Amino acid sequence: MRILILGGNGFIGKNLGCYLTRKGHMVISFDLEKKYDDTEHIKYVQGNFFKDEDFIPYLKNVDIVYHAISTINPGNSNDKYMQGYMCDFLQSIKLSDYSREYNFRIIYLSSGGTVYGYQEKLPIKEDALSTPINHYGNLKLCIENTYRTFNKQFGTDIVIARIANPYGPGQDYSKGVGFIDAALKRAIRHEPIEIWGDGLVIRDYIYINDVCHMLYSLIDYQGADPVFNISANCGSSQNDIINILRNLVPDISVKYLPARPVDVPAIILDNSKINMLCKERCLEIDEGIEIYYNYLIKREIN
Ligand SMILES: NC(=O)c1ccc[n+]([C@@H]2O[C@H](COP(=O)([O-])OP(=O)(O)OC[C@H]3O[C@@H](n4cnc5c(N)ncnc54)[C@H](O)[C@@H]3O)[C@@H](O)[C@H]2O)c1
Repeated sequence: MRILILGGNGFIGKNLGCYLTRKGHMVISFDLEKKYDDTEHIKYVQGNFFKDEDFIPYLKNVDIVYHAISTINPGNSNDKYMQGYMCDFLQSIKLSDYSREYNFRIIYLSSGGTVYGYQEKLPIKEDALSTPINHYGNLKLCIENTYRTFNKQFGTDIVIARIANPYGPGQDYSKGVGFIDAALKRAIRHEPIEIWGDGLVIRDYIYINDVCHMLYSLIDYQGADPVFNISANCGSSQNDIINILRNLVPDISVKYLPARPVDVPAIILDNSKINMLCKERCLEIDEGIEIYYNYLIKREIN
């Protein structure tokens, strides 16, 4: 297949691009900069998603478009929400119009960690009523709902991937998300690990390669219910993560800061629906952290 990744230099986009080529597909990776050299199976192209003329040429003759661009995140969305609604929302909807014109399937990277908001029942299933508590989650939900309306009204086959909390090679916590990335890198550098709140906030952390397995399995989905949790179906608190890290780096120091109002206390996403499509085993959290730790250490040494 010919597959376009919008945001292909990013943490998820870059990992996914490499994964898809290993599966034998041709990938066009679209991003603001051309950071990498082309390979036999990946062409890295430069352009701005908010300029139609930049990306329309790449929509022709593609089968799948993974939409992995967001200009806001949970931490900054209560300041930058207008940018999200005016730019990200509008352009994402335009993309669905283009999907009709050029006949490709969109797989949209939404956020399982923020669309649901407070939920009493864990793990959360896809049909739980979504009540996001920050604008990032609400923006994702607005885009999702509009895509679902496109599917109903125009017969498009857009699929929505509600990704939990991914971690692994290529992540950069300085962009505003990624507790495991921050904790590991700070531990390795012997810097204090910052935790907003008491460390009891629970998240469903998933290793990036498992995310790629799951995103890949969505390509052939033919059903009528296009929303999928992409998760490990397992909750860990930040203090649990610290305890796992202590087995790898003994002299860790932790600094507890005031809790942030943008964080819900617990997210665990039921992954039984995606597991009907994806048969790969998800890594346990301690396995994934050890693999990522070894990757980071090897890079420090070389
Ligand atoms: N990382 C997470 O924890 C997480 C969790 C759930 C959902 N998501 C979603 O998955 C998607 C990808 O996340 P990520 O962590 O890889 O983000 P990222 O910030 O690492 O990557 C996004 C990429 O998009 C590119 N980009 C931004 N604006 C662009 C523009 N105007 N034109 C072209 N490229 C542009 C950036 O340069 C970057 O390379 C996002 O939509 C994000 O909301 C991420």
